[in-house]
Amino acid sequence: MLLEIEDIHVHYGKIAALKGITASVDDGEIVTLIGANGAGKTTTLKTVSGLRNLSSGAIRFDGRDISRMPGHKRVLAGIGQAPEGRGIFPGMTVEENLLMGAYARKDDASKELAEAYELFPRLAERRTQAGGTMSGGEQQMLAIGRALMAKPKVLLLDEPSMGLAPMLVQQIFSIIVEINRRGTTVLLVEQNAQQALQIAHRAYVLETGRVVKSAPARDLLDDPQVRAAYLGGASGDDLAAAPDVASASSAASASDAPSAEPADDREEGSST
Ligand SMILES: Nc1ncnc2c1ncn2[C@@H]1O[C@H](COP(=O)(O)OP(=O)(O)O)[C@@H](O)[C@H]1O
Ligand SMILES: [Mg+2]
Repeated sequence: MLLEIEDIHVHYGKIAALKGITASVDDGEIVTLIGANGAGKTTTLKTVSGLRNLSSGAIRFDGRDISRMPGHKRVLAGIGQAPEGRGIFPGMTVEENLLMGAYARKDDASKELAEAYELFPRLAERRTQAGGTMSGGEQQMLAIGRALMAKPKVLLLDEPSMGLAPMLVQQIFSIIVEINRRGTTVLLVEQNAQQALQIAHRAYVLETGRVVKSAPARDLLDDPQVRAAYLGGASGDDLAAAPDVASASSAASASDAPSAEPADDREEGSST
C-alpha cells in the first residue's frame, strides 16, 4: 500500500472529529471518501498532509511512518494537496502560481510546467493573468496544476467540483482520471458521490468520524443504503421491492440506512 491510515483519532480541542478512521490507498488507485457534511473527510485529508495532528493512530506512506512528520516534508516525500478553498496566490500570475508548486524542488520544473499546461490548456492561455482574477473553475484547475508541479506520488483533492458549473464539473472529473492514467495516485474527497464513485476504484463512506462502509466504488453505486443516503434515493428496483412485507430484507436494509446522526460532538465539547 502506498498510503495507510490506521485507526486515526483527531480532535479539534475536545471535539473528536475522527474516531478511528482506517483506510488505505494502493499505488495507482483512485480512492474516494464520501459522506455528509461534517463526516470528517476534510480532516482526514488534512491529517494525511500534516495540517492536523493525530491524537492516536498512525499514517504510513511509501513504507515510512509519517505520523509525526511536518507537512512540508510530506510534500517532499510525495504527498500533494490541492487545498479546500483553492488557496492560490491572487496577486501572482498563473505561471508564478504554478512555479510555486515546484518551489521546494531543486531540479528544473519546465517539464512539469509543460505537462500542467497540456492538462489544462486554459491555464496556458492565461499564464500571465493574475491568479485572483481567474474564475472559480480556473482557480480550481490552477490549484490542481500547482499541486502536480511537486510531482506527488499521491494527490489529495478536497471537493474539486465544489461550486463549479456542471460542464466544468465534468471537465474536472475527466482531468482527475487523466492525472491518474498518467501515473499519479489519487485520494479524492467529494460531496458529489455519484461522480466520485464513477471514477474511483475503491471508496470509503464516512459518518461522523468513522468509516461505515468500504467497497469497490462500483459496488457502492448499486448499494441501496448508499443510494438512499448519498445518491439521491433508491434505484427503480429498490422502490419496486420495498413496500412489500415479503421483501422484508430490502425494506429493512432501507430503514437501516445510515440515519441522520445525532448532533455531532461539537455540541458537547467546548465551543471554538
Ligand atoms: N476548525 C474546526 N474547529 C472545530 N471543529 C471543527 C473544525 N473543523 C472541522 N470541525 C468539526 O470536525 C468534524 C469533521 O469536519 P470535516 O472534516 O470538515 O468534515 P467534512 O469535510 O466531511 O465536511 C465536524 O464535526 C466539524 O464540525
Ligand atoms: Mg470538507
